[in-house]
Amino acid sequence: MSAHELRRSVMSALSTVTHPTTGSDVVSAGNVQDLHVDEDGSVTFGFLLRGDDPGDMVKRARETAEDVAGVTSVKVNVQLPQMTPAGSSGGPGGGLKPGSVPAPTPKPGLLGSVGHVVAVSSGKGGVGKSMVASNLAAALALAGHRVGLLDADIYGPNIPLMFGEERRPQVSGAKGSEMIEPLEAHGVRLMSLGFLLDKDQPAIMRGPLIAGILKQFLEQVAWGALDVLVVDMPPGTGDAQLSLVQTIDLDGAVMVTTPQEVSTGDVRRGIKMFERVNTRVLGIVENMAGLACPHCDEVIDVFGTGGGEALAKEMKIDFLGRVPLDPAVREAGDAGRPTVVGAPNSAAALALVGVTDAVQERLGILVPS
Ligand SMILES: Nc1ncnc2c1ncn2[C@@H]1O[C@H](COP(=O)(O)OP(=O)(O)OP(=O)(O)O)[C@@H](O)[C@H]1O
Ligand SMILES: [Mg+2]
Repeated sequence: MSAHELRRSVMSALSTVTHPTTGSDVVSAGNVQDLHVDEDGSVTFGFLLRGDDPGDMVKRARETAEDVAGVTSVKVNVQLPQMTPAGSSGGPGGGLKPGSVPAPTPKPGLLGSVGHVVAVSSGKGGVGKSMVASNLAAALALAGHRVGLLDADIYGPNIPLMFGEERRPQVSGAKGSEMIEPLEAHGVRLMSLGFLLDKDQPAIMRGPLIAGILKQFLEQVAWGALDVLVVDMPPGTGDAQLSLVQTIDLDGAVMVTTPQEVSTGDVRRGIKMFERVNTRVLGIVENMAGLACPHCDEVIDVFGTGGGEALAKEMKIDFLGRVPLDPAVREAGDAGRPTVVGAPNSAAALALVGVTDAVQERLGILVPS
C-alpha cells in the first residue's frame, strides 16, 4: 500500500472516533491536524485538545490509528487551544445539570483545562491525607464532576494502588513532546509523581530540584477537561512541599489533622505555609475522631474529639467535618476501593461525603440534589 493510500485508511479509521456527548468525529471536528504518513507506515498527527474533551479521545484516536493494517507506529502531538474553551459541557455520568458548574478554565502549566485545583495536606504524616484525598476525589466523581487525583508523593505511587490500579501510565507522542495519559479508576483520572522514580532508585531529589522536574512532568500529563483536580500532598511543611505549592496553581487547601495531632504545632505550621503563599485554606478535617463501633451505630470517643473544630475557630478557618476511625476504611482499601465506593453506608463514608459537600460548597460547585 502506498503512503497515500495508507493515509486515506488512517483518516477514515479516525473518522469513526466520536465524541461521546457531541457525537461528532475527531476528523470533521478538526481535532486531528497535520496527519502525516511515511512510506514505512509511521503515522504522525496533531490532536487539538478542547475544553470538552472527556479525557480519552487522544488515547482512542491513537489506538484506532495503530489498529489500521500497514501502520507501524503512531505519534500524536497534543495541542492546546489558544483561547479559553467556551461553553464546556457538564460532566459525564449524570448528576450534573449542564451549565450548573462553571466551565473549567486552563491552568498555566497543566495540559488540559482544569476548573479547580485543591490540595489535601497535613502538618504530619500518617494522619489520613491520602485516605481523605482519595475519598474526596471519588465522592466528587460520584456527584457527577470530572475529577483528577494527583499523588504528589515522589516515593511511590500510593494513590493508584489505593484505587486498585497497578499499571503504569502510557506515554505517547514524539520525543521532546511526550504526553502521559492518566490511569482511570472509579471515575477518577489518576497520576502519581511516584512514577518519576523507580522503586529501588535512591530518593535523592530535594525541594528545589524537584520543582523543575515536577513542572515538566505536570505539563505533560493529559488530564483533559476536569472540574476538579485533587492533589494529595506529601506530609510536612518543608522545601519540597513549598515548591509543590508554588509550582501548582492551587485554588485551595484542605488540612487533615487528628485529635492527637491538634495540640502539636505541625498543623498550624501547615496552615501558615499556605497562607504565606496566599493559598486559601478551605478548612480543617479531623480524621480518626473516635472509633466507629463495628457492632453498633455509635462512635466511641477514644482520644477525645473536637480539637480540630476548636483549632479551626482559633485560626479563623472553616471546619469541614470529622471522620471516625472505621474498619470499613481498611476493608474497602484492601479491595482497591475508596471507602465512599467500597463501603458507602459506613460511618466513615457518610462523614467523607459530608466533607466533600463542604468542599464543593466552598468552591461554589455544589449541585443541589
Ligand atoms: N478514618 C480512618 N479509619 C480507619 N483507618 C484509617 C482512617 N484514616 C486513615 N486510616 C488508615 O491509616 C493509615 C494512614 O492513612 P493515610 O495513608 O491516608 O495517611 P497519610 O497522611 O496519607 O500518610 P503519609 O503521610 O504517609 O502519606 C492507612 O492505612 C489508612 O488506611
Ligand atoms: Mg499519604
